[in-house]
Amino acid sequence: MEEKEISQAVIGRLPRYYRYLKDLKDSGKERISSQELSRIMKVTASQIRQDFNNFGGFGQQGYGYNTNYLYEEIGKILGLDHVHNMVLVGAGNLGQALVKYLKFKKSGFNFICAFDINPQLFGQTVGGIPIRPLRELKDYVDANDVDIVVLTIPKSDAREVAHSLTRTNIKAIWNFAHIDLELPASIQVENVHLQDSLMKLSYNIHRNSISPDDDQ
Ligand code: NAI
Repeated sequence: MEEKEISQAVIGRLPRYYRYLKDLKDSGKERISSQELSRIMKVTASQIRQDFNNFGGFGQQGYGYNTNYLYEEIGKILGLDHVHNMVLVGAGNLGQALVKYLKFKKSGFNFICAFDINPQLFGQTVGGIPIRPLRELKDYVDANDVDIVVLTIPKSDAREVAHSLTRTNIKAIWNFAHIDLELPASIQVENVHLQDSLMKLSYNIHRNSISPDDDQ
């Protein structure tokens, strides 16, 4: 059967459903209606039903969804029923903070090695994983089951490092360097720019501080 293309907007909303459902499940809530979920998440019930209908609707009956089932099914759609091995490239401030964030491991995102160009870091460990010279990256990735490379290096080097990985079996790059990477379609790229979120916040602060007189 041909697989239906799901919009990125829908995919983008799934992690939030997943987080809320985890809290509901953990608090012992066994069933939830789309209206109740809508109230908690501040999304319309019709949006929730539309989103879920992309995946067959998750069998809502008159009295709502089974919370645990919904949580697990959304987890499967997000691929969270697999463990993803990750390597870090750039073991500086940001990279080290990411590796030390233990919740990634609990969600199946498992850092197994870090790489850097700074010789002072070689042989050290961060968050229990070794830091190795960058020159060993490609061989390491070829020899180990690495799914995701996390790039936390300056943008001046990001393109070159990313390209050196195009002939490996990695599936994705989680890119924190502030540069767009053009890579073969076989490698998914997710760009993260924390500052975008801050700029959005700044816009909202500014918008809310505009008095009606300013508009005239
Ligand atoms: P940092 O200077 O503390 O760490 C960078 C590390 O990368 C250093 O250990 C350095 O030796 C290493 N490195 C440099 N070139 C390398 C290469 N070619 N291969 C492997 N390792 C290499 O910097 P920090 O604060 O950790 O930031 C790292 C990068 O992430 C910067 O480019 C920064 O602009 C970016 N950044 C992005 C954010 C985002 O939201 N996307 C947020 C914060 C930082």
